[in-house]
Amino acid sequence: MRYGVIGTGWIAKSFIDGARMLCGAEFAAVYSRTNESGERFAEANKIATVYTDINEFAKGDFEAVYVASPNRLHFEQSRLMLENGKHVICEKPITVEPEELSELQALAKEKGLIYIEAIMYMFNPARDLLRDAVSKIGRITSVHFDFSQLSSKYPAYLEGKLPNIFNPALATGCLMDLGIYCVYPALDLFGMPEKITACAHFMDSGADGSGNAALLYPDKLVNLTYSKLGQDRLGSQIFGDRGTITIESISKLINMYMIDNGGNKTELIGDVPKEKLMGYEAAAFERFIAIPDDEYYALACERAMQVSRIMKEIRNISGIRFS
Ligand SMILES: NC(=O)c1ccc[n+]([C@@H]2O[C@H](COP(=O)([O-])OP(=O)(O)OC[C@H]3O[C@@H](n4cnc5c(N)ncnc54)[C@H](OP(=O)(O)O)[C@@H]3O)[C@@H](O)[C@H]2O)c1
Repeated sequence: MRYGVIGTGWIAKSFIDGARMLCGAEFAAVYSRTNESGERFAEANKIATVYTDINEFAKGDFEAVYVASPNRLHFEQSRLMLENGKHVICEKPITVEPEELSELQALAKEKGLIYIEAIMYMFNPARDLLRDAVSKIGRITSVHFDFSQLSSKYPAYLEGKLPNIFNPALATGCLMDLGIYCVYPALDLFGMPEKITACAHFMDSGADGSGNAALLYPDKLVNLTYSKLGQDRLGSQIFGDRGTITIESISKLINMYMIDNGGNKTELIGDVPKEKLMGYEAAAFERFIAIPDDEYYALACERAMQVSRIMKEIRNISGIRFS
Protein backbone atom coordinates (compact mmCIF):
# COMPACT_ATOMS: atom_id res chain seq x y z
CA MET A 1 0.00 0.00 0.00
CA ARG A 2 1.25 3.47 -0.87
CA TYR A 3 0.54 6.12 1.74
CA GLY A 4 0.60 9.87 2.05
CA VAL A 5 1.05 11.33 5.53
CA ILE A 6 -0.46 14.49 7.00
CA GLY A 7 1.50 15.76 10.00
CA THR A 8 5.16 15.69 10.91
CA GLY A 9 5.10 14.96 14.65
CA TRP A 10 6.69 11.98 16.44
CA ILE A 11 3.51 9.92 16.19
CA ALA A 12 3.64 10.05 12.39
CA LYS A 13 7.13 8.57 12.55
CA SER A 14 5.89 5.76 14.83
CA PHE A 15 3.11 4.92 12.39
CA ILE A 16 5.50 4.91 9.43
CA ASP A 17 7.95 2.64 11.25
CA GLY A 18 5.15 0.28 12.37
CA ALA A 19 3.47 0.11 8.95
CA ARG A 20 6.80 -0.54 7.26
CA MET A 21 7.68 -3.21 9.82
CA LEU A 22 4.38 -5.13 9.76
CA CYS A 23 3.00 -4.46 6.26
CA GLY A 24 5.94 -3.40 4.10
CA ALA A 25 4.03 -0.16 3.51
CA GLU A 26 5.41 2.49 1.15
CA PHE A 27 5.32 6.15 2.11
CA ALA A 28 5.21 8.27 -1.02
CA ALA A 29 4.45 11.78 0.22
CA VAL A 30 4.05 14.03 3.24
CA TYR A 31 1.98 17.18 3.68
CA SER A 32 3.38 19.92 5.89
CA ARG A 33 2.46 23.58 6.28
CA THR A 34 6.04 24.53 5.53
CA ASN A 35 8.64 23.24 3.12
CA GLU A 36 11.29 23.30 5.83
CA SER A 37 9.39 21.04 8.24
CA GLY A 38 8.20 18.80 5.39
CA GLU A 39 11.72 18.36 3.98
CA ARG A 40 13.13 17.60 7.41
CA PHE A 41 10.49 14.93 8.01
CA ALA A 42 10.77 13.51 4.49
CA GLU A 43 14.53 13.17 4.76
CA ALA A 44 14.39 11.55 8.21
CA ASN A 45 11.73 9.08 7.05
CA LYS A 46 12.87 8.47 3.46
CA ILE A 47 9.78 9.97 1.81
CA ALA A 48 10.19 11.21 -1.78
CA THR A 49 7.67 14.03 -2.12
CA VAL A 50 6.76 17.00 0.06
CA TYR A 51 3.57 18.98 -0.48
CA THR A 52 2.72 22.28 1.18
CA ASP A 53 -0.62 22.61 -0.64
CA ILE A 54 -3.19 20.25 0.85
CA ASN A 55 -5.30 20.23 -2.34
CA GLU A 56 -2.30 19.15 -4.43
CA PHE A 57 -1.40 16.55 -1.80
CA ALA A 58 -4.94 15.14 -2.00
CA LYS A 59 -4.36 14.40 -5.71
CA GLY A 60 -1.01 12.68 -5.02
CA ASP A 61 0.03 9.27 -6.31
CA PHE A 62 -0.93 7.08 -3.34
CA GLU A 63 -4.04 5.13 -2.31
CA ALA A 64 -4.19 5.79 1.41
CA VAL A 65 -3.61 8.64 3.84
CA TYR A 66 -2.59 8.60 7.49
CA VAL A 67 -3.84 11.79 9.18
CA ALA A 68 -1.82 12.92 12.21
CA SER A 69 -2.60 16.62 12.48
CA PRO A 70 -4.10 18.45 15.50
CA ASN A 71 -7.62 17.20 16.31
CA ARG A 72 -9.45 20.25 14.98
CA LEU A 73 -8.20 19.54 11.45
CA HIS A 74 -9.13 15.85 11.26
CA PHE A 75 -12.62 16.39 9.83
CA GLU A 76 -11.74 18.81 7.01
CA GLN A 77 -8.58 16.97 6.02
CA SER A 78 -10.16 13.50 6.12
CA ARG A 79 -13.11 14.78 4.09
CA LEU A 80 -10.80 16.23 1.46
CA MET A 81 -8.88 12.95 1.23
CA LEU A 82 -12.07 10.88 0.90
CA GLU A 83 -13.42 13.26 -1.74
CA ASN A 84 -10.21 12.62 -3.67
CA GLY A 85 -10.64 8.86 -3.52
CA LYS A 86 -8.13 8.09 -0.76
CA HIS A 87 -8.65 5.53 2.00
CA VAL A 88 -8.13 7.25 5.37
CA ILE A 89 -6.73 6.13 8.70
CA CYS A 90 -7.01 9.11 11.03
CA GLU A 91 -5.45 9.58 14.45
CA LYS A 92 -7.68 9.63 17.51
CA PRO A 93 -10.06 11.33 18.07
CA ILE A 94 -11.20 10.62 14.52
CA THR A 95 -13.36 13.76 14.49
CA VAL A 96 -14.32 16.25 17.20
CA GLU A 97 -18.10 15.89 16.78
CA PRO A 98 -20.05 12.64 16.30
CA GLU A 99 -22.05 14.34 13.53
CA GLU A 100 -18.82 14.92 11.61
CA LEU A 101 -17.92 11.25 11.98
CA SER A 102 -21.33 10.21 10.77
CA GLU A 103 -20.98 12.44 7.70
CA LEU A 104 -17.56 11.04 6.80
CA GLN A 105 -18.54 7.43 7.43
CA ALA A 106 -21.40 7.96 4.97
CA LEU A 107 -19.05 9.63 2.45
CA ALA A 108 -16.55 6.75 2.70
CA LYS A 109 -19.32 4.22 2.19
CA GLU A 110 -20.69 6.10 -0.82
CA LYS A 111 -17.22 6.18 -2.40
CA GLY A 112 -16.32 2.59 -1.51
CA LEU A 113 -13.40 3.73 0.68
CA ILE A 114 -12.12 2.61 4.07
CA TYR A 115 -12.11 5.19 6.87
CA ILE A 116 -10.97 4.21 10.36
CA GLU A 117 -9.70 5.70 13.59
CA ALA A 118 -6.05 4.96 14.39
CA ILE A 119 -6.70 3.68 17.89
CA MET A 120 -4.35 1.02 19.23
CA TYR A 121 -6.94 -0.71 21.41
CA MET A 122 -9.20 -1.90 18.59
CA PHE A 123 -6.45 -3.44 16.45
CA ASN A 124 -4.26 -4.85 19.19
CA PRO A 125 -4.29 -8.68 19.46
CA ALA A 126 -4.13 -8.16 23.25
CA ARG A 127 -7.77 -6.99 23.06
CA ASP A 128 -8.75 -10.67 22.66
CA LEU A 129 -6.60 -11.65 25.65
CA LEU A 130 -8.30 -8.97 27.74
CA ARG A 131 -11.80 -9.98 26.66
CA ASP A 132 -11.01 -13.61 27.46
CA ALA A 133 -9.63 -12.70 30.89
CA VAL A 134 -12.72 -10.58 31.62
CA SER A 135 -14.85 -13.68 31.04
CA LYS A 136 -12.83 -15.59 33.66
CA ILE A 137 -12.88 -13.35 36.75
CA GLY A 138 -16.48 -13.85 37.76
CA ARG A 139 -19.01 -11.13 38.42
CA ILE A 140 -17.51 -7.71 37.71
CA THR A 141 -18.99 -4.84 39.69
CA SER A 142 -16.16 -2.33 39.69
CA VAL A 143 -13.65 -1.16 37.09
CA HIS A 144 -10.97 1.52 37.19
CA PHE A 145 -9.32 2.62 33.97
CA ASP A 146 -6.65 5.29 34.27
CA PHE A 147 -4.49 7.06 31.75
CA SER A 148 -2.48 9.75 33.52
CA GLN A 149 0.72 10.76 31.81
CA LEU A 150 2.68 13.87 32.66
CA SER A 151 2.84 15.86 29.44
CA SER A 152 6.27 16.63 27.96
CA LYS A 153 4.66 19.95 26.92
CA TYR A 154 3.72 20.93 30.50
CA PRO A 155 7.05 22.72 31.28
CA ALA A 156 6.57 24.91 28.18
CA TYR A 157 3.02 25.69 29.31
CA LEU A 158 4.31 26.69 32.76
CA GLU A 159 6.78 29.04 31.04
CA GLY A 160 3.85 30.88 29.48
CA LYS A 161 3.77 29.18 26.06
CA LEU A 162 0.63 27.58 24.62
CA PRO A 163 1.46 24.12 23.22
CA ASN A 164 -1.20 22.72 20.87
CA ILE A 165 -2.21 20.07 23.37
CA PHE A 166 -3.36 22.74 25.87
CA ASN A 167 -5.02 24.97 23.26
CA PRO A 168 -8.81 24.54 23.22
CA ALA A 169 -8.98 26.15 19.76
CA LEU A 170 -7.46 22.90 18.41
CA ALA A 171 -9.99 20.69 20.28
CA THR A 172 -7.24 19.11 22.36
CA GLY A 173 -6.95 18.73 26.17
CA CYS A 174 -6.82 15.67 28.38
CA LEU A 175 -10.11 13.92 27.59
CA MET A 176 -9.54 14.13 23.83
CA ASP A 177 -5.90 13.08 24.16
CA LEU A 178 -5.86 10.46 26.94
CA GLY A 179 -9.41 9.98 28.23
CA ILE A 180 -10.42 8.43 24.92
CA TYR A 181 -8.12 5.48 25.68
CA CYS A 182 -10.24 4.74 28.78
CA VAL A 183 -13.57 5.21 26.97
CA TYR A 184 -12.71 2.67 24.24
CA PRO A 185 -12.22 -0.41 26.45
CA ALA A 186 -15.13 0.62 28.68
CA LEU A 187 -17.59 0.57 25.77
CA ASP A 188 -15.95 -2.36 24.03
CA LEU A 189 -16.01 -4.59 27.11
CA PHE A 190 -19.21 -3.46 28.82
CA GLY A 191 -21.37 -1.73 26.18
CA MET A 192 -23.14 1.61 26.44
CA PRO A 193 -23.71 2.89 29.99
CA GLU A 194 -27.08 3.85 31.45
CA LYS A 195 -25.83 6.98 33.12
CA ILE A 196 -22.69 9.13 33.13
CA THR A 197 -21.27 11.56 35.65
CA ALA A 198 -18.10 13.48 34.82
CA CYS A 199 -15.90 16.30 36.00
CA ALA A 200 -12.85 18.15 34.66
CA HIS A 201 -10.09 20.29 36.12
CA PHE A 202 -9.36 23.25 33.86
CA MET A 203 -6.07 24.99 33.18
CA ASP A 204 -5.84 28.76 32.66
CA SER A 205 -5.78 28.17 28.88
CA GLY A 206 -9.27 26.69 29.17
CA ALA A 207 -8.07 23.16 28.36
CA ASP A 208 -8.97 20.28 30.65
CA GLY A 209 -5.73 19.21 32.32
CA SER A 210 -7.31 16.24 34.09
CA GLY A 211 -10.71 14.73 34.63
CA ASN A 212 -12.85 11.76 35.44
CA ALA A 213 -16.01 10.07 34.23
CA ALA A 214 -18.09 7.43 35.96
CA LEU A 215 -20.07 5.13 33.65
CA LEU A 216 -22.95 3.48 35.45
CA TYR A 217 -24.28 0.11 34.22
CA PRO A 218 -27.09 -1.93 35.81
CA ASP A 219 -24.52 -4.29 37.36
CA LYS A 220 -21.31 -2.29 37.58
CA LEU A 221 -19.59 1.07 37.91
CA VAL A 222 -16.74 1.86 35.50
CA ASN A 223 -14.53 4.73 36.67
CA LEU A 224 -12.30 6.51 34.19
CA THR A 225 -9.57 8.91 35.32
CA TYR A 226 -7.09 10.79 33.15
CA SER A 227 -4.53 13.52 33.57
CA LYS A 228 -1.84 15.27 31.56
CA LEU A 229 -0.46 16.98 34.65
CA GLY A 230 0.74 13.99 36.66
CA GLN A 231 2.08 10.48 36.14
CA ASP A 232 0.14 7.32 37.04
CA ARG A 233 2.22 4.53 38.59
CA LEU A 234 -0.51 2.00 39.42
CA GLY A 235 -2.32 1.35 36.14
CA SER A 236 -5.85 0.12 35.54
CA GLN A 237 -7.80 -2.67 37.24
CA ILE A 238 -10.92 -4.73 36.63
CA PHE A 239 -12.33 -6.30 39.78
CA GLY A 240 -14.32 -9.56 39.58
CA ASP A 241 -15.49 -11.74 42.45
CA ARG A 242 -13.17 -14.52 41.22
CA GLY A 243 -10.15 -12.42 40.36
CA THR A 244 -8.64 -9.12 39.28
CA ILE A 245 -7.05 -7.98 36.03
CA THR A 246 -4.29 -5.39 36.24
CA ILE A 247 -3.16 -3.44 33.17
CA GLU A 248 -0.07 -1.27 33.24
CA SER A 249 -1.04 0.73 30.15
CA ILE A 250 -4.68 0.92 29.12
CA SER A 251 -3.75 2.51 25.76
CA LYS A 252 -1.23 -0.16 24.77
CA LEU A 253 -2.67 -3.13 26.73
CA ILE A 254 0.81 -4.11 27.87
CA ASN A 255 1.99 -5.82 31.06
CA MET A 256 -1.45 -7.27 31.83
CA TYR A 257 -1.94 -9.80 34.61
CA MET A 258 -4.79 -11.86 35.97
CA ILE A 259 -4.64 -12.45 39.74
CA ASP A 260 -6.94 -15.00 41.35
CA ASN A 261 -8.42 -14.66 44.82
CA GLY A 262 -5.53 -16.70 46.25
CA GLY A 263 -3.10 -14.08 44.95
CA ASN A 264 -1.74 -16.29 42.14
CA LYS A 265 -0.60 -14.07 39.26
CA THR A 266 -0.73 -15.08 35.57
CA GLU A 267 0.87 -12.88 32.93
CA LEU A 268 -1.48 -12.22 30.00
CA ILE A 269 1.03 -10.17 28.02
CA GLY A 270 4.32 -8.37 28.64
CA ASP A 271 5.73 -5.32 26.88
CA VAL A 272 5.19 -4.60 23.16
CA PRO A 273 6.99 -1.79 21.27
CA LYS A 274 4.81 1.18 20.33
CA GLU A 275 5.74 0.89 16.63
CA LYS A 276 4.42 -2.66 16.55
CA LEU A 277 1.11 -1.53 18.07
CA MET A 278 0.86 1.14 15.37
CA GLY A 279 1.75 -1.50 12.80
CA TYR A 280 -1.28 -3.54 13.91
CA GLU A 281 -3.47 -0.53 13.01
CA ALA A 282 -1.93 -0.36 9.55
CA ALA A 283 -2.32 -4.13 9.09
CA ALA A 284 -6.05 -3.98 9.92
CA PHE A 285 -6.52 -0.92 7.66
CA GLU A 286 -4.88 -2.73 4.74
CA ARG A 287 -6.94 -5.87 5.42
CA PHE A 288 -10.15 -3.80 5.30
CA ILE A 289 -9.06 -2.23 2.01
CA ALA A 290 -8.51 -5.72 0.58
CA ILE A 291 -11.73 -7.12 2.12
CA PRO A 292 -14.17 -4.21 2.58
CA ASP A 293 -16.95 -6.43 3.97
CA ASP A 294 -14.67 -7.73 6.74
CA GLU A 295 -16.99 -7.85 9.78
CA TYR A 296 -14.37 -6.27 11.99
CA TYR A 297 -14.46 -3.11 9.85
CA ALA A 298 -18.15 -2.66 10.63
CA LEU A 299 -17.40 -3.20 14.32
CA ALA A 300 -14.54 -0.68 14.29
CA CYS A 301 -16.80 1.92 12.63
CA GLU A 302 -19.61 1.29 15.10
CA ARG A 303 -17.27 1.45 18.09
CA ALA A 304 -15.73 4.71 16.83
CA MET A 305 -19.21 6.23 16.62
CA GLN A 306 -20.19 5.04 20.11
CA VAL A 307 -16.96 6.41 21.56
CA SER A 308 -17.46 9.74 19.79
CA ARG A 309 -20.99 10.05 21.22
CA ILE A 310 -19.89 9.20 24.78
CA MET A 311 -16.91 11.56 24.53
CA LYS A 312 -19.31 14.33 23.53
CA GLU A 313 -21.55 13.53 26.49
CA ILE A 314 -18.60 13.54 28.89
CA ARG A 315 -17.53 16.92 27.45
CA ASN A 316 -20.99 18.34 27.92
CA ILE A 317 -21.27 17.11 31.52
CA SER A 318 -17.72 18.24 32.39
CA GLY A 319 -18.13 21.64 30.75
CA ILE A 320 -15.31 21.06 28.26
CA ARG A 321 -15.70 23.57 25.42
CA PHE A 322 -13.58 24.25 22.35
CA SER A 323 -13.37 27.82 21.10
N1 LIG B 1 -1.74 7.19 18.75
C1 LIG B 1 -0.98 7.82 19.62
O1 LIG B 1 -0.34 7.22 20.48
C2 LIG B 1 -0.87 9.30 19.54
C3 LIG B 1 0.18 9.96 20.18
C4 LIG B 1 0.29 11.33 20.00
C5 LIG B 1 -0.64 12.01 19.24
N2 LIG B 1 -1.65 11.34 18.66
C6 LIG B 1 -2.64 12.04 17.84
O2 LIG B 1 -1.96 12.49 16.68
C7 LIG B 1 -2.45 13.76 16.28
C8 LIG B 1 -1.29 14.71 16.18
O3 LIG B 1 -0.73 14.89 17.45
P1 LIG B 1 0.66 15.63 17.64
O4 LIG B 1 0.95 15.67 19.08
O5 LIG B 1 1.67 15.10 16.70
O6 LIG B 1 0.20 17.09 17.17
P2 LIG B 1 1.04 18.39 16.87
O7 LIG B 1 2.50 18.11 17.11
O8 LIG B 1 0.44 19.53 17.59
O9 LIG B 1 0.77 18.59 15.32
C9 LIG B 1 1.07 17.59 14.37
C10 LIG B 1 1.57 18.25 13.10
O10 LIG B 1 0.55 19.09 12.58
C11 LIG B 1 1.10 20.30 12.14
N3 LIG B 1 0.53 21.41 12.96
C12 LIG B 1 0.92 21.82 14.18
N4 LIG B 1 0.16 22.84 14.60
C13 LIG B 1 -0.71 23.09 13.63
C14 LIG B 1 -1.75 24.04 13.48
N5 LIG B 1 -2.01 24.95 14.42
N6 LIG B 1 -2.45 24.01 12.35
C15 LIG B 1 -2.18 23.11 11.38
N7 LIG B 1 -1.22 22.18 11.47
C16 LIG B 1 -0.48 22.16 12.58
C17 LIG B 1 2.61 20.21 12.35
O11 LIG B 1 3.19 19.82 11.13
P3 LIG B 1 3.80 20.91 10.12
O12 LIG B 1 4.35 22.03 10.94
O13 LIG B 1 4.88 20.15 9.43
O14 LIG B 1 2.67 21.31 9.25
C18 LIG B 1 2.77 19.10 13.35
O15 LIG B 1 3.93 18.33 13.18
C19 LIG B 1 -3.50 14.17 17.31
O16 LIG B 1 -4.78 13.92 16.81
C20 LIG B 1 -3.24 13.26 18.50
O17 LIG B 1 -4.40 12.94 19.22
C21 LIG B 1 -1.77 10.00 18.77
